[in-house]
Amino acid sequence: MPRKILVTSALPYANGSIHLGHLVEYIQTDIWVRFQKLRGHECYYVCADDAHGTPIMLRAETEKITPEELINRVNTEHQQDFADFAIGFDNYYSTHSSENQYFANLIYKNLASAGHIERRTIKQFYDPAKEMFLPDRFIRGECPHCGAKDQYGDSCEECSKTYNPTELKNPISAVSGTTPVEKESEHLFVNLANFTEMLQEWTKCLQPAVLHKLEEWLETGLQAWDISRDAPYFGFEIPDEPGKYFYVWLDAPIGYMASFKNLCDKKNLNFDEFWAADSQAEIYHFIGKDITYFHCLFWPAMLSGAGFRKPTSVFVHGFLKVDGQKMSKTRGTFINARTYLNHLNPTYLRYYFAAKLSNGVEDVDLNLDDFLQRVNADLVGKFVNIASRCANFITKRFDGQLAAKLADENLYQQFIDAGDIIATAYENRDYNRAVREIMGLADRANQYIDEHKPWVLVKQEGGDAELHAVCSQGLNLFRVLMGYLAPILPTLTKEVGKFLNAPITWQPTALVVHNINNFKPLLKRVEQKQIDSIIAASKETLVATAPVAKTAEKIADTISYDDFAKVDLRIAKIVKAEHVEEAKKLLKLTLDIGEDKHRTVFAGIKEAYQPEQLTGRLTVMVANLAPRKMRFGLSEGMVLAAGPGKQDLWILSPDDGAEPGMKVK
Ligand code: 2FM
Ligand code: ZN
Repeated sequence: MPRKILVTSALPYANGSIHLGHLVEYIQTDIWVRFQKLRGHECYYVCADDAHGTPIMLRAETEKITPEELINRVNTEHQQDFADFAIGFDNYYSTHSSENQYFANLIYKNLASAGHIERRTIKQFYDPAKEMFLPDRFIRGECPHCGAKDQYGDSCEECSKTYNPTELKNPISAVSGTTPVEKESEHLFVNLANFTEMLQEWTKCLQPAVLHKLEEWLETGLQAWDISRDAPYFGFEIPDEPGKYFYVWLDAPIGYMASFKNLCDKKNLNFDEFWAADSQAEIYHFIGKDITYFHCLFWPAMLSGAGFRKPTSVFVHGFLKVDGQKMSKTRGTFINARTYLNHLNPTYLRYYFAAKLSNGVEDVDLNLDDFLQRVNADLVGKFVNIASRCANFITKRFDGQLAAKLADENLYQQFIDAGDIIATAYENRDYNRAVREIMGLADRANQYIDEHKPWVLVKQEGGDAELHAVCSQGLNLFRVLMGYLAPILPTLTKEVGKFLNAPITWQPTALVVHNINNFKPLLKRVEQKQIDSIIAASKETLVATAPVAKTAEKIADTISYDDFAKVDLRIAKIVKAEHVEEAKKLLKLTLDIGEDKHRTVFAGIKEAYQPEQLTGRLTVMVANLAPRKMRFGLSEGMVLAAGPGKQDLWILSPDDGAEPGMKVK
């Protein structure tokens, strides 16, 4: 019986590019969906851009465009990246849609009339200059636990402790650089504790490691969840609550429903068959482990409280590491999808991720040496090689026609029978197991060819019949394997289908007396220099030394030429460099920028330089940066430095001949 299945991947934010970390999930999900479709199930894969929230609002402001313009541009970019990685969404939408607003309002109203919404007045940091409440990530200050400077408002990168932003010492708004004040506001909360029993039961459908984590949270007791945000905010205004908006995480998962509704309207599908409380269809969300709380507590609570069905399960995966470490812009391992595509075939990455993915929550390591070696050995050297060893004999000696019967039916049957184990591995998201089984079969196929030596048969008088039989057998085995690899390698599958002039299916009947097309090389080997180019293109070395640099970088990854032209870069002479008492990272620099003008700049280069090493040197500064009030005084610009940070940081030094005040061109 065909199953009805709806599958989603997490919705990427509409203010950043897709990177390889995202792709672990989209590739994992896409393989599963393609597998289900290949097996004849009615399966839909929907996704959308997560388009609301403060970061998107501020990013649009930085770019001097409307949030709508920003999210439309990013949506196009995302869809192109996904299409180029052969991610086969049935629908890709946006949370900024009328369908999403409809369902967000409906779910909220249902929750309210069932008594699950409550009001509370809370105190939050407010930026008086910008006239807005500040999300935790837009407040920086000193960690209340270890004293580390320049930490986010919710957690410390040095000691990993979490805290409330109001506990930060010397807080600064990352939006305006001013000191925020505490201000009261009434917020709406979902009373999650009402759902504790339901969640204790529902969470049993999750992976053991996820369940374990959730049990801890459930035992500690669920806190009410704040679902409202004050204007200005880019999102949906809450019905009958002027000036209050749904928090982005309220309408984000509802975006799954909205994208599916949009698909239903286009394809004439029955929405309720999937989402009604008594639905028999299956719904699965693929997510990263960092958003477990939202998907495994908030989301099922919202759905059940509002009268909808709950997900059948949520499939959680780990993060991507590159060469065993967190992706890093300075190491060049924070790789955008587009950068990868500019240098390498997406088929390789799909294969490599599949070969590494299990159904656990462990991180996935993209080891670049292993990637090159494995793709070349398995895909090119082992799998595609089966076809290249047989095809030309069929084309040249037998007019492109396969033999009238299989030479080794028993071997063919063994390949077909292995399909059941492979199917179970796919179904359980044990892709590494599936790949191991398939590559084991590829070894067997190559062994068969080695044993029968077509290159010897071709030279033997009377060897034609056996040559025909062996090569036809080889190509039929290749076709079975292509069927097994089809969920992982959809683009290659299409090409192989054309070459074999036959559909690629799961456990196919053998092709006999069948004409194939001429063989063209299917895949090239990966070359080290392609990987090197990706790393080089992903490297970011220039670091700004202002305290809010991390946040500013998050808001705008690129600037327009016009924006760049506004930056007044000047040669500056460091006339004085001093330690700042209590500051772990900062030096106070007095800079001469010509015409007797002096500027004071606090630069985060203390770990790299002694003050006396700097006095008298020339460097480059941003001369027209608005002054920022810092804890130690007013900083009137920024000096430029390059390097990964801490002691490895080098201020830019112009060649001899440069004079203070010269404009940098
Ligand atoms: O963490 C994120 O990137 C979110 N944009 C994921 C949202 S998933 C869903 F709930 F919409
Ligand atoms: Zn700390």
